[in-house]
Amino acid sequence: MSEDTGQEQNRSRLGLLLTGVLGGSLLALYAGAAPFITPALRKICLPFVPATSAQVDNVLRVLRARSGTLVDLGSGDGRIVIAAAKRGFKASGVELNPWLVWYSRYKAWREGVHRSTSFYISDLWKVSFAQYSNVVIFGVPQMMDQLELKLASELPTTAKVVACRFPFPTWVPEHTAGEGIDTVWVYDAKTFKSHQQRGLTRKTTAVDEDTPQSHS
Ligand SMILES: C[S@@+](CC[C@H](N)C(=O)[O-])C[C@H]1O[C@@H](n2cnc3c(N)ncnc32)[C@H](O)[C@@H]1O
Repeated sequence: MSEDTGQEQNRSRLGLLLTGVLGGSLLALYAGAAPFITPALRKICLPFVPATSAQVDNVLRVLRARSGTLVDLGSGDGRIVIAAAKRGFKASGVELNPWLVWYSRYKAWREGVHRSTSFYISDLWKVSFAQYSNVVIFGVPQMMDQLELKLASELPTTAKVVACRFPFPTWVPEHTAGEGIDTVWVYDAKTFKSHQQRGLTRKTTAVDEDTPQSHS
């Protein structure tokens, strides 16, 4: 083999190696980023925006007299589920993004609540929530009317639903907590199920404010 041919073969091996490394890196980048990007391409765009700590505190505050099962719809990095488990709930999260689910499981294990938490890689529109007595949703306005119908038909009359940041469009909340982007609204299933059965719809107005409006 001449020196020239040997150098040419080395160059071509290096080229192959670089192409492989570049291709592999791009593939890894795509695999990592795709679960975060695809929610934006769905009919209802519900991106990963984690709850603020004030929001999490408000959820726990309005559910302080409650117990039993709880599910966070679109549980993100698991912060609401983990905080609820620490308050004694048997807490679950339903989340489309597998990276966030794996991270949530790891965090629950690290924080010592893995036995009272479960995280599912699932589409919230394809799961029944009939078994849960407490439901939390930090959604977007475009999905709330559809979610009203789904939850009203699935949940037991003893359930409570907490909406973070965006209220349900026609249900009447029994109270609210927090203010601004950290506001949460609490709904009683007995009320919204009976309204739904009677075909009643009303615009969102709290009947009893948990937090005075002047509170800052
Ligand atoms: C606004 S974030 C809320 C995260 C978390 N609940 C919190 O309060 O920190 C919405 C989450 O819903 C997830 N998501 C979007 N569409 C979904 C679907 N169809 N089923 C399940 N999860 C979904 C997103 O990946 C994102 O993590």
